[in-house]
Amino acid sequence: MEPITDNYNRKLRDLRVSVTDRCNYRCPYCMPLEVYGEKYEFLKRNEVLSFEEIERLVRLFVKLGVKKVRITGGEPLVRKDLESLISRINSIDSDLDIALTTNGYLLAEKVQKLKDAGLSRLTVSLDSLDEITYKKMNGKGFGPDKVLNGIKRAEQIGFSPIKINVVVQKGYNDKNFLDVANHFRSSKNIVRFIEFMDVGNKNGWALNKVVPAKEILEVIDKKFPLESVSPTYEGEVAKKYRYKDGAGEIGIISSVSQPFCGDCTRARLSTDGKLITCLFATQGVDLKTPIRSGSDDDELISIIRSTWGQRTDRYSELRSQNTDLDQLNKPKVEMYYIGG
Ligand code: GTP
Ligand code: 5AD
Ligand code: SF4
Ligand code: SF4
Repeated sequence: MEPITDNYNRKLRDLRVSVTDRCNYRCPYCMPLEVYGEKYEFLKRNEVLSFEEIERLVRLFVKLGVKKVRITGGEPLVRKDLESLISRINSIDSDLDIALTTNGYLLAEKVQKLKDAGLSRLTVSLDSLDEITYKKMNGKGFGPDKVLNGIKRAEQIGFSPIKINVVVQKGYNDKNFLDVANHFRSSKNIVRFIEFMDVGNKNGWALNKVVPAKEILEVIDKKFPLESVSPTYEGEVAKKYRYKDGAGEIGIISSVSQPFCGDCTRARLSTDGKLITCLFATQGVDLKTPIRSGSDDDELISIIRSTWGQRTDRYSELRSQNTDLDQLNKPKVEMYYIGG
């Protein structure tokens, strides 16, 4: 089938699938506890796509050129039986790159099943190794040991490299993110430092809470000198650097200070089945209703085609140029239900 391109000639290559809007953490940059408290109403069971529905949609996206599927949440490992979804997706095309982004809390107990089901790659969020900072950054008072243990298990059974995501947020881990770099030096794993982004509307984002990529780099480079590495593929999110002493590689994701919309090939499927063409979108296109009202594959493909065909998103670039304030000020969809 003819691969599809958007208005700026960007292909549709990656699909990020959010399998739940729930999470066992309350990171201040994503689901701050004050907003997502006991009374917060998450999606009801029947609003959430079933594994059958997700599999069917992924199959269609793969027909349209998707090569990489990333499972996200919320926290994907809180969804029961996730391995059966991985296995369904794996059966679509065994060459498909299937990745998972998790906070790692439940990883140790689930990783073997995920591997057996055909998961190819793993990204684990770990914002700090300092006990107090980590507790503050997951909003639940959990220490980092369970996550470190999960990473160790995953390494033992052959995930390599594992990517470690560190969101750097001023007032939280800006004084100790270097510890994470240090911890994973000389392992095969790749730590990626991420600028605190203005995703959603509820995380109290302000430019002065962002530690710019340049500063993050300076801190690391001062202690462990770095040199830049050229990108592995077009549209790569993280800029790569390697330690000059041969102790491995890190990445910096600078969506705020140096946006990368120009070659963004990512679509997102929200927990409730909306097709979302930008992390900062204000709305999505409903695929669940047509699926549940009996649309056939051709009809679904035609919705996906026309949505991607009309795509003009480049939010991060607009934000950095500050050109379209009306667009920037519109309420955005929340991160916890479209994944990171
Ligand atoms: P691989 O290259 O497949 O390993 O993954 P990746 O680099 O896309 O990494 P991952 O999916 O873990 O993304 C890392 C983080 O980058 C996310 O959690 C987001 O914070 C940010 N990010 C990912 N995609 C986008 C995007 O399209 N736009 C923006 N602004 N940020 C993104
Ligand atoms: N800024 C940057 N990254 C974020 N993530 C979630 N919220 C934010 C934010 N406000 C990303 C982190 C986390 C992943 C699940 O989503 O990378 O590791
Ligand atoms: Fe949960 Fe991930 Fe959001 Fe943290 S960033 S609250 S772990 S979904
Ligand atoms: Fe892609 Fe939107 Fe992120 Fe730009 S801001 S890189 S268009 S998801």
